[in-house]
Amino acid sequence: MIPGARVVLLGRQGSGKGTQCTRLSRHFVAPHISTGDMLRAAVREGTELGRLAREIIDAGGLVGDDIMVGIVDERLQRDDAQIRGYILDGFPRTVFQAESLDRIAGDKPLHVAIDLDVPRAMVLDRLSRRRVCRDCGTNYQSTGSDPRPWLCDTCGGDVVQRDDDTPEAINRRLDLYESQTQPLIEFYGRTRRLERVDGVGTPDEVFARLTGTIEKRR
Ligand code: AP5
Ligand code: MG
Repeated sequence: MIPGARVVLLGRQGSGKGTQCTRLSRHFVAPHISTGDMLRAAVREGTELGRLAREIIDAGGLVGDDIMVGIVDERLQRDDAQIRGYILDGFPRTVFQAESLDRIAGDKPLHVAIDLDVPRAMVLDRLSRRRVCRDCGTNYQSTGSDPRPWLCDTCGGDVVQRDDDTPEAINRRLDLYESQTQPLIEFYGRTRRLERVDGVGTPDEVFARLTGTIEKRR
């Protein structure tokens, strides 16, 4: 039997967290918990959380810590996470969230926090070309001569540009990453739970580096 894994993936917007967490979730048979996906689902469903989060997300800001910790706490208590672990994508994003995760993870502490490292110039290019399936979230890269209409290979849904992938929101998100999320790298370094993985290369190459690192720490 494949043992599960308890992982936090850190990294700039566009470093490939969503792309790699989908694969890691399949590999380790552990749920991929993406707070960005959860918030976008709430926006689509028009829930109270979605109404509150919509403007913040589109402007590239951060949703409040208390709300985010509550959502993740509830998700981690479910059976799949208790049994198989968790592949966290986009959480924690502040030191407060990281300290809260240590508390709510309880007797299922994380094995490793990984800093998926990609230079800023490269993520700017990836994000400006990113397109996503509105229904299942599969990622694509625009080449400039895209199919019209563009339908998802996985589910047939519409492939569109994310509302927060505008140049203004991308820059705001990257600035917030430096000020709010970069300190997490020090936080996990101090507590000896940090590994740095080079995120430049093909998705297959990056995936092989990630699984090697997780297996070493688990
Ligand atoms: P979230 O959805 O987490 O977005 P993000 O942090 O901006 O990160 P991205 O999804 O943009 O990047 P990614 O690293 O997943 O890259 P991807 O794999 O898509 O959060 C959205 C918003 O929600 C936040 O701004 C905030 O408002 C709110 N929020 C979420 N969590 C929160 C929290 N905890 N606290 C407060 N607020 C929160 O890859 C990017 C592109 O590159 C894709 O097109 C992909 O195909 C391509 N690509 C991937 N890998 C490679 C490769 N190896 N080579 C070439 N291209 C590649
Ligand atoms: Mg993502």
